[in-house]
Amino acid sequence: MQEVKRTLTIFILAACLARPGKAQQQCTNGFDLDRASGQCLDIDECRTIPEACRGDMVCVNQNGGYLCIPRTNPVYRSPYLNPYSNVYPPPPASNYPTATRPLMCRFGYQMDESNQCVDIDECASESHQCNPTQICINTEGGYTCSCTEGYWLLEGQCLVLDIDECRYGYCQQLCANVPGSYSCTCNPGFTLNDDGRSCQDVNECTAQNPCVQNCVNTYGSFLCRCDPGYELETDGISCSDMDECSFSEFLCQHQCVNEPGSYYCSCPPGYIMLDDNRSCQDINECETRNFTCTTQQTCFNIQGGYKCLDPVKCEDPYIQINDNRCMCPTENPGCRDQPFTILYRDMDVASGRSVPSDIFQMQATTRYPGAYYIFQIKSGNEGREFYMRQTGPISATLVMTRPVKGPRTIQLDLEMITVNTVVNFRGSSVIRLRIYVSQYPF
Ligand SMILES: *[C@@H]1O[C@H](CO)[C@@H](O)[C@H](O)[C@H]1NC(C)=O
Ligand SMILES: *[C@@H]1O[C@H](CO)[C@@H](O)[C@H](O)[C@H]1NC(C)=O
Repeated sequence: MQEVKRTLTIFILAACLARPGKAQQQCTNGFDLDRASGQCLDIDECRTIPEACRGDMVCVNQNGGYLCIPRTNPVYRSPYLNPYSNVYPPPPASNYPTATRPLMCRFGYQMDESNQCVDIDECASESHQCNPTQICINTEGGYTCSCTEGYWLLEGQCLVLDIDECRYGYCQQLCANVPGSYSCTCNPGFTLNDDGRSCQDVNECTAQNPCVQNCVNTYGSFLCRCDPGYELETDGISCSDMDECSFSEFLCQHQCVNEPGSYYCSCPPGYIMLDDNRSCQDINECETRNFTCTTQQTCFNIQGGYKCLDPVKCEDPYIQINDNRCMCPTENPGCRDQPFTILYRDMDVASGRSVPSDIFQMQATTRYPGAYYIFQIKSGNEGREFYMRQTGPISATLVMTRPVKGPRTIQLDLEMITVNTVVNFRGSSVIRLRIYVSQYPF
């Protein structure tokens, strides 16, 4: 400052004392009388005085005087000359008179060769005072110091005042905050929309269909589903055939057949499938006449098949009295200890039939006065599967007491003994019951 003061030379040579009205007025120094108007006019000393200022000094005409000012003197940063005083504080207020015709450029400008004031690029000329964290932006007549994006000017320094954009929920899903910025990303199964912040579900099913069978898109993921009869494997995408037959043994009455994606029931020969697709029904081959019995034989339908029954042959001393009955004539001495009649009967029973079970009834056809009847199993019950239960004076029921498994044919001689104490008579008749136990319990 000392230097500035020393080189600043101010010449105030005159003040205007001219008073209008009188022709022969004197003008103070620095003014000349204009005879036409009779007024004192300022003298432009810079033009009229050769070398009014010397060396590096610049002559600046003033009203009634002139100034010699160093070419580079910053005193010209006066409020009047510097429109950028809001950018840089003005120097202390100057008492110096205002230059009416400055031959200098305003602050921030410089004279080019053609005496034109042009803007100084303080940024390019490195004459700015922006600190290293800032970037210099040249403006007309000045410059500004600014911060790069994401930095905030605080007390003259560009600081990372990181705003956590993530905190404000700008990103729909994932947000990665980085100093001065952020980036949105999406969870797996989503893609970032063009807006850079919202996420959109990826339809994996249409994109790559990872499922072996059916794909169901879900929000953010997908599910594989299998066709009926298949189950999802642990990998979540493959489907394997379910063995429905292993679920329950009651799926089919006879046999369950698993096949890819489903199952079906089958019936053994001699049966047809019912409409429920699981139960088997016996075919009556005798009715449908699908049998191979001879003409002499009789077709007897049983569960799952049929029997060809030979005609009854009565063995000596029995004589045949009709198709299924033989009689031993009482007059024949060989018939003395033999049943009077043998009646042939056939029946079928399902294998494994639940017990106890009444399967056959017999009854005396005639009731003689004074007679009573005893019913018993005469033969064929070696396995003790049957029991004769008397149900009345002249009737009894054959009860199956143990389950019988087929296929099997059992022949039982069921005897009815007639005892008449009045006439001292004891006689018997037999029902030769052939029981065809089927192979299957249906
Ligand atoms: C049985 O199977 C047939 C043919 O597969 C089907 O049309 C029908 O609906 C089935 N019936 C039942 C009771 O499932
Ligand atoms: C007749 O029975 C045989 C087996 O005994 C069977 O294969 C055939 O399908 C049956 N025919 C009809 C028309 O039921």
